[in-house]
Order: sequence, then structure tokens, then C-alpha cells
Amino acid sequence: MGVEARAPLVLAVSGASGQPLAERALQRLLEAGEQVELITSRGAITVWQAELGLQVPGEPEAQEQFWRRRTGVSSGVLRCHRWNDQAASIASGSCRTRGMVILPASMGAVGRIAAGVATDLLERCADVHLKEGRPLVICPRELPWNLVHLRNLTTLAEAGARIAPPVPAWYHQPRSLEDMVDFLVIRIFDVLGDELGPLQRWQGPGGRSG
Ligand SMILES: Cc1cc2nc3c(=O)[nH]c(=O)nc-3n(C[C@H](O)[C@H](O)[C@H](O)COP(=O)(O)O)c2cc1C
Repeated sequence: MGVEARAPLVLAVSGASGQPLAERALQRLLEAGEQVELITSRGAITVWQAELGLQVPGEPEAQEQFWRRRTGVSSGVLRCHRWNDQAASIASGSCRTRGMVILPASMGAVGRIAAGVATDLLERCADVHLKEGRPLVICPRELPWNLVHLRNLTTLAEAGARIAPPVPAWYHQPRSLEDMVDFLVIRIFDVLGDELGPLQRWQGPGGRSG
């Protein structure tokens, strides 16, 4: 593996429902010893409060301590960024990263990225990944999708992003919500070529591939 394999990964969380997916992804990435650049949008901070009663600090240092405590993981490298810090290292294409995952992605963020509008660090960083031709995985969360959402997602797919909606499956026979969250997180990072845990892959009926 070359230098690129050790470059940090950007995990971006926007204000869509499904924040536990982001939290589990962060936990697994840090457990795997990854270097994570974390962006939590302003909308995400609101949703965390509304859905889980969590007060996520906006300031990077306080946020790092918060996630270290909450995930209980001391390994890996975690760097948090202020949602509107357009001067952050990762706002520039000269900063090396090996990809970015937006989990979950709000329709607002999807629309602005598709339009090439960067009003905050998440959108700027996504724009940078597209312009640099680096992997960008977008996990949109909305139901149902209207035509505007579908067109924006198509634009992003045409621009090189991978669209990976957090859609559950039952072939791995989940027994709990945690099983489902783990499956989704591992499958999403599978798209990026990362192995964040054991994935029960479909082997064909009766467990036989072919
Ligand atoms: C509790 C809650 C849940 C939300 N869920 C979604 C959602 O699933 N998908 C979505 O596109 N927007 C959702 N929204 C609306 C977005 O949070 C809102 O459009 C916000 O401006 C997005 O901000 P961001 O794109 O900067 O993260 C939700 C809002 C709240 C308060």
C-alpha cells in the first residue's frame, strides 16, 4: 500500500435522519485505526439534538473529546472541523485524502453539491473530492424522493459520486436494529473498498454461490 492508503478519510454528517449510522461508522473507523476528518453540518447538530437529545459541541476540540467519550474508542486519529470552516485543510484540493463519505446526506446538501454551491465545509469538501476525482460516497436519506432529488442525485452520479442510500436488507438475517446499522455501515464502506467488519455476503440460496 502506498501513501494514498494512509491518507485520511473524510466522514461528513449532514442534517438527515439516521445519525446513529454516522456514529457507528465513526466508531468502527477509529477502532480500525483510521485517520478521520469529521465534518458535522449545522443541520446535523440540530438533528442530533432533535432525534437523540444529544448536544454535539460545535467547537473542534470539544467535539473531539465528546466523540472519544461517547464512542469509547481511543485508537485512530480524529480531527473534527467546524461546520463553516472554509479555511480548514480539507477545504483545499492540495490536502491529501483518500475519499469522503456523506452519511447521512440531506436533500439540501445533495442539492447544493449538485449545483456546485459550497455554503459550508461539507459542501466545499464534497466539491473538492469531485474536482480532484477522488472517491465521494453519498448516502441520501429521504422518503419519498421527488423529481428534484432524483435529478440532483443523477447529476452527482454523472459527476463521479457513488450514491449509496442506507437501504436495509434482510438476507443477512438481522436480529436487532444494531445488526441492521452494522450491516449498513459496513456495506457503505464496502463501496469505498474499506473493510470495517465482517460482512455476511449473499452466497446464493442455501448458502451456495453461483
Ligand atoms: C429531526 C429532523 C429530521 C430531518 N430528517 C431529514 C431527512 O431525513 N432528510 C433530509 O433531507 N432532511 C431532513 N431534515 C431537514 C434538514 O435537517 C434541513 O433541510 C437542514 O437544513 C439540512 O441541513 P444540512 O444540509 O446543512 O445538513 C430533518 C430535520 C430535522 C429537524
